[in-house]
Amino acid sequence: MDTRWVVFIFSLLSATCGWAEKQRKFKDDFLFGVSTSAYQIEGGWNEDGKGESIWDHHLHKHPEVVIDFVNGDVACDSYHLYKRDVEMLRELGVDFYRFSISWSRVLPTGLPNTINEAGFAYYDNLIDELLKYNIIPMVTLYHFELPQRLQLLGGWSNPLSVQWFQDYAGQVFKRYANKVKYWITINQPSVCMEPYAPPALGDEDAVGAYICVKHILLAHAAAYRLYEKEYKKKYKGQVGISLSLNLYDPVDNRTESEEAAERARQFASGLYLNPIWSKEGGFPSVVKELVAKVSKKEGFPKSRLPEFTEEENKALKGSADFLGMNHYTTFLVYPESEKNVGELWYIGDLDVRITRGEKWEEAMSPWLKSAPYGLYKACLYLNKHYDYPQIIITEHGWSTDTGLNDTGRITVMKEYFKALLLAIEDGTEVKGYSYWSLMDNLEWISGIMERFGLYEVDFHSENKTRTARKSALFYKHTIEKKIIDESWDIDDKDFKIEISDRRMKKKKDEL
Ligand code: GAL
Repeated sequence: MDTRWVVFIFSLLSATCGWAEKQRKFKDDFLFGVSTSAYQIEGGWNEDGKGESIWDHHLHKHPEVVIDFVNGDVACDSYHLYKRDVEMLRELGVDFYRFSISWSRVLPTGLPNTINEAGFAYYDNLIDELLKYNIIPMVTLYHFELPQRLQLLGGWSNPLSVQWFQDYAGQVFKRYANKVKYWITINQPSVCMEPYAPPALGDEDAVGAYICVKHILLAHAAAYRLYEKEYKKKYKGQVGISLSLNLYDPVDNRTESEEAAERARQFASGLYLNPIWSKEGGFPSVVKELVAKVSKKEGFPKSRLPEFTEEENKALKGSADFLGMNHYTTFLVYPESEKNVGELWYIGDLDVRITRGEKWEEAMSPWLKSAPYGLYKACLYLNKHYDYPQIIITEHGWSTDTGLNDTGRITVMKEYFKALLLAIEDGTEVKGYSYWSLMDNLEWISGIMERFGLYEVDFHSENKTRTARKSALFYKHTIEKKIIDESWDIDDKDFKIEISDRRMKKKKDEL
């Protein structure tokens, strides 16, 4: 359906049913959190026996790929300042903290022959500090950081990577299964397709990208099955995977536009959803057909898209207790026949042309515009095509340049919360929401220019001083009240934030 229709129907229903006036509320057990990832915040890149990761290696060798030449050597220095991070979580009053473990910090070679006790001690301390204040740890095992040593062995294109990841996951599960109940195996397997990201197999040849996708998905399933077998019964934790689930919407209501948008959805997200959540399993048929066609044209005797064996299919199907949804924006897709419009957008073998709504609010990041209806529509699409998956929004965020008075971020958060509440009302099973990010951090090749934080970080100060933005106070208020308070505002120029007793009170109530 044309996006404008959706917006129109929304406003019509709002007007006729009094939806606009209705005060919606997040349920009492809805979980609010914030997210970060190891490379983007930790620093301490070679401290206490940490091994090199592909991002360490890449940005040391090619500092010029980052817009402002900043790398993750120090970042927010959370390796030393984690107690301040937890203090910020307490100030916000969040239920959970989603952070990632750096594989090469705990297993410097990537393989389980060497365990770095000092590296594990860092996560022991962080997790214990969270639990001390009743904040739920949500751990991502892989957020784009492969140990460099494994990259030298072919990285995710080596079939053994599935075993390497399972061994690593096994070490982490063994250590933390009694303390951590929410696990995310892989953050955005679509990283295999990202031309900006190392190992950059994606842009060097379209062969490596799909092999990476196959192995990273199998690695996820292997970790899921290991937890299921060894820990699930005893510890009752949940294991999921986080996918990039932005919406690809047709640019207008022509059938060709809708068909092109659907193809884009299959390449951008079906590739990862289908093997785990569809009844038939495996890669989506439209992706199979298209890659086979293009491969043939290129002279390959066989499609570049690998297949799953029956056994692999079985391991993958149903291998997630929840779907981690990373949703930032919406792209409007043109029919493929229109070659001279919009912007070229590469997703696998599909060269689509996209645009964004002209009037949509723009963030600091060039790819990011606000289209809250897209979150609603993306949720309903998931319900329809993947049978109402259990969802946790593991990332959603907005970038600004700098400054504490970030009213733009607050507006975007409000609008997306409204869309989320509507999606829940219309049947979407969403258990929690996590804002990206707790604080400004190293935004990959965009360096420290694009700031997603609820807390501003002064990267030039010795202590990487973190200061609450106005949005931090807005989020805190939303978490406390569980409603979207349109009238909320504050005068205070310092945006002073104090520790909330919300989680400690909850602990007391539970006892
Ligand atoms: C996500 C990624 C995060 C963060 C965010 C904002 O795709 O998982 O690490 O960088 O985008 O761009």
